[in-house]
Amino acid sequence: MTAREPITLPLELDRPPKQAEPALRGDSITADRYTSNEYLQRELEQVWRRVWNIGGVSYQMTEPGDYLTTEIGHESVILVRQADGSAKAFLNVCPHRGTRITDAAEGAVERFHCPYHGWQFDWEGTVVAVPDEEDFRESPCGRARLHEVLCCERFGLIWYNLDAKAVPLEEFLGEQITSELDSHRMEAMVRVLDITADAESNWKIITDNFNEAYHVKVLHPELIPYIAADYQDCQFDLFPRGHNRGWFPAFMPSQQYGSEVIGEPLKTMAQAWGVDSDDYQGRETWSDLRISIQKSKRELGAERGFLHYAYRSNYQLTDYVIYNIFPNNVITVGPDGVQLLRPRPHPTQADRCYFDHWWLVNRVDGQTMTPSPAGGPDLPVTDAEHEYVTYGEQTLGTTADQDLSIAKAQQAGLASSGFQGFWMPNQERRVQAFHEHLNDLMASP
Ligand code: FES
Ligand SMILES: [Fe+2]
Repeated sequence: MTAREPITLPLELDRPPKQAEPALRGDSITADRYTSNEYLQRELEQVWRRVWNIGGVSYQMTEPGDYLTTEIGHESVILVRQADGSAKAFLNVCPHRGTRITDAAEGAVERFHCPYHGWQFDWEGTVVAVPDEEDFRESPCGRARLHEVLCCERFGLIWYNLDAKAVPLEEFLGEQITSELDSHRMEAMVRVLDITADAESNWKIITDNFNEAYHVKVLHPELIPYIAADYQDCQFDLFPRGHNRGWFPAFMPSQQYGSEVIGEPLKTMAQAWGVDSDDYQGRETWSDLRISIQKSKRELGAERGFLHYAYRSNYQLTDYVIYNIFPNNVITVGPDGVQLLRPRPHPTQADRCYFDHWWLVNRVDGQTMTPSPAGGPDLPVTDAEHEYVTYGEQTLGTTADQDLSIAKAQQAGLASSGFQGFWMPNQERRVQAFHEHLNDLMASP
């Protein structure tokens, strides 16, 4: 791993810079992309083999020989820390007769051993020992290899791409998104939540959900008292290659909020930073409350152990920003941590997916517990064990449960002959842009 100069955005920034709006074509969004298994198989080839995926968190692999496995579609991918500190990625398939060489989620090895006939591989994926070597006309040792795929590390995460000709990750993301993600210094964070759920919808129903905030006031009314989720208060930006960004000012109520007097939980959130929300009566004062809290955090952050506030822009002290890195890496950044909310396609069933939820937090001096981002109980500030859950049997937290409950209902509706395509307001243009980019990839050779 090479150390990189930390990036700080200008501290006085009040919101992320508005991007030029590209024109959208208005493609119709057909149901087959959500319901057809045949479409899913083409999508695995046309889309999933060509994009950068997040495989894991860098600190999961500290020593040479530490490895992780991750899955996308039909592929299992092994990520391995090398002797020189870099990371490599290989398809998890034995060159002898095709067996997966490991089914472990993570581990540490001197050599990988295929469980079938015992071929052995070094960290660079080369076969180094086989039983009955003298029985081969040409020994596989030093010749046969695991199939290597592109791998890089950025933002404290390990990324891989199945396309050998893919553009580098930074070019894929573009300069603006790269520098904004860099500014959070996720390398210093710890993952305190790591859940995968089986979900009963196509993966795109979940990305669509994160690509609009139109549903927030209906589905997540509990966010209204402290996050401004109305489109008039937010900013939505489209980026090349299908990525997008949504900015949501927080520590102020949404315009939908029913009262002129600020209530809970914002009253307590403001109090925690020495600001009395009763001094802000009437909705025209709400954005001033947000700014007072930014000032207070700037002033008191360091002495309270929030050392990361020193390198955060004003808006990064209070607000939420959702990046969708095409196709499915929904990265939600808040004042004290980052969530990955990521649906992954099921390999064979269009109406199912896996939903990964990670929560990485900044370490705060003296803090051993941290609020859950999903409405669940507080979480210990230590590296979390991976949990595998079935949606409906265990909770994923209030907000995620609300989103997934509607995903199932939408999946059912999209399979109906009554579905006639989408009818969307301008604030849902990130959904439209996402599908137009998807259409481009599906149509390209
Ligand atoms: S399939 Fe791996 S050693 Fe035979
Ligand atoms: Fe939602």
